[in-house]
Amino acid sequence: MVNLNMSKYTIITLDEVHSTNSYAIENARYFDNGNVIFTMHQSSGRGRYNRKWVCDDSENIYMSIVLKPENINNYPFANLTQYLSVVVCRFLENEFNLKPQIKWPNDILIDGYKISGILAESYMEKNEIKAVILGLGLNVNLKNETIEKIDQKATSLFALTDKNYDSEELARKICDIFFADYDEFIEKGFGFIEKDYKDRCGFLGKNIAIRENNEKKQYFAKDIDKDGLLVAEDEFGSECKIITGDVLC
Ligand code: BTN
Repeated sequence: MVNLNMSKYTIITLDEVHSTNSYAIENARYFDNGNVIFTMHQSSGRGRYNRKWVCDDSENIYMSIVLKPENINNYPFANLTQYLSVVVCRFLENEFNLKPQIKWPNDILIDGYKISGILAESYMEKNEIKAVILGLGLNVNLKNETIEKIDQKATSLFALTDKNYDSEELARKICDIFFADYDEFIEKGFGFIEKDYKDRCGFLGKNIAIRENNEKKQYFAKDIDKDGLLVAEDEFGSECKIITGDVLC
């Protein structure tokens, strides 16, 4: 098949690495916009809030997309992970006929079980952002014994379909989808993915718990606003907009 986005990204495959995000940050100055650090074996994967991203000896997707924005001022930093979450959902829908849901802001779940997580970090020089590192972990062939040891509800493509897959081939498909619309997303911002994102937010209209700075608070999730922020009602009925945090249920 012809790769129509050939010029937009280059995958750099490593046999094994501690963390593709750490590796990308450590070497960011040598990478170009659109370089994608990919491995199927990551030994110290990192998740959000300093959590571990669990790996075993099966071959999964661990990748970090290096982005070097030309115009930092108009760059939709805050919505980048939301864009990637929509991309991963589209991929799982098209390739596996699954019905993924997004748990705000960017976890991807199948029937309430997490299959993929995203970690965005930046590389700075002299207080200036020089690169954004968009890390994606997708449990492809992760074994059931490993999944059972994870401290939250998790799953993998293997656990769902009882088949093994070529993670590198799947990573390419995700990059194809990501880079096909990336320029338009950069230009239009969250509005470009608003409907696609909201359509997959299974938590809207429900009571949720959010952890913010180690504190757990109860909210009613009302909507996602035009900037991608979560509009919620707190326990006293006051409306607020939530910028960061972790939806616990
Ligand atoms: C999360 O859900 O907490 C985010 C998980 C992100 C994991 C990926 S795996 C590839 C990249 N390298 C890392 O060390 N982390 C991200």
